[in-house]
Amino acid sequence: MIKYLSKAPKRALREKTCIVRVDLNIEDPSEENALRIQAVIPTIKLLLKLNAKIILISHRGRPKGKDTKLSLKPFAPILTKKLKRGIVFIPHFRFPQLKKEIETSSVKIFLLENLRFHKGEEKNDRAFAKNLAYLADVYINEAFAASHRKHASIAAITKYLPSYAGLRLEEETKQLHKAIHKYKKPLTIILGGAKIENKFEVVKYFKNKANYILLGGGVANTFLAEKGHPVGNSLVDRSVNMKPYLHMKQIICPRDWKTQKDEIMDIGKETAEAFVKIIKKSKTIIWGGPVGYIEKEKFAGGSKAIAYAIAKRKDKLLSIAGGGETTDFILKHNLLNRFDLVSTGGGAMLEYLSGKKLPGIEALKK
Ligand code: 3PG
Repeated sequence: MIKYLSKAPKRALREKTCIVRVDLNIEDPSEENALRIQAVIPTIKLLLKLNAKIILISHRGRPKGKDTKLSLKPFAPILTKKLKRGIVFIPHFRFPQLKKEIETSSVKIFLLENLRFHKGEEKNDRAFAKNLAYLADVYINEAFAASHRKHASIAAITKYLPSYAGLRLEEETKQLHKAIHKYKKPLTIILGGAKIENKFEVVKYFKNKANYILLGGGVANTFLAEKGHPVGNSLVDRSVNMKPYLHMKQIICPRDWKTQKDEIMDIGKETAEAFVKIIKKSKTIIWGGPVGYIEKEKFAGGSKAIAYAIAKRKDKLLSIAGGGETTDFILKHNLLNRFDLVSTGGGAMLEYLSGKKLPGIEALKK
């Protein structure tokens, strides 16, 4: 059983110092409304109500050592604005000093520097995890998006503190669990985007569960290329072994396309209509990755058709979407509340939906 923050006794949190792992792996810090920022607010507010001190920790990017471009500093004013509370940013990992700074400050919220500037983080180093734990009384994982990483702030730290799943992480795991174990049929999976390999892991897992698997973007190109369909210079990932999927009857590929020069840029009108028709009869939908090059409005038509078709059926189906591009697209079109879950996770969501156990979630089961 996962230990949820929502079920934790108040006395375990009241006036305690809580170290909260969040995921501020956001490329552009000016994106104040990024889902990953919105996602951490309820847990922080709950802890503030209990007069707890909060230490926010996160990674950002994949730095090799210290890299000021990947600092978490720009997020302190953003979170200050959102929470209407002062936040102190701490740029170092000198732990005894850090502890003193936190203990003696009258401020309630602290944000530590990018954990990946410290070599212990990605090694799941016990000493680093212990040092982080030494700062607080309680650990909360509010970083579903990073929970597939066996890193010190996600996994090892739970050995040293009472540990809970944050409010958002609870919501994400419960909805994803539903999609895997309590889905209603017809179940439709829509996969697109540029990252291809881990998407087929989802196809493998849902092989005997999904009624329809609709492909677009690089995922469709890769599949079609393997079948011998000419795809010109379109995005294809030849490293993925497509053989196990080629004969799956549920897989539906685009029939027409919008192209530019020699590249497929979006699904065509006929395909979009066919996909919408399937969405209309589905009772569960899982969507990961746009079906076109959505950065350009003229190639966003297919993804728009999908997003609005799902949104329209809000009360008639279980709808789950995720991945950075898909999430931004849904936010941009103001459709966030029309989905049951728009996951903060990309890789983490796909791993969960591939039936894998996420180290960060497993560590919260006690
Ligand atoms: C993500 O953006 O998917 C998470 O923050 C994990 O980042 P990573 O792939 O660099 O570990």
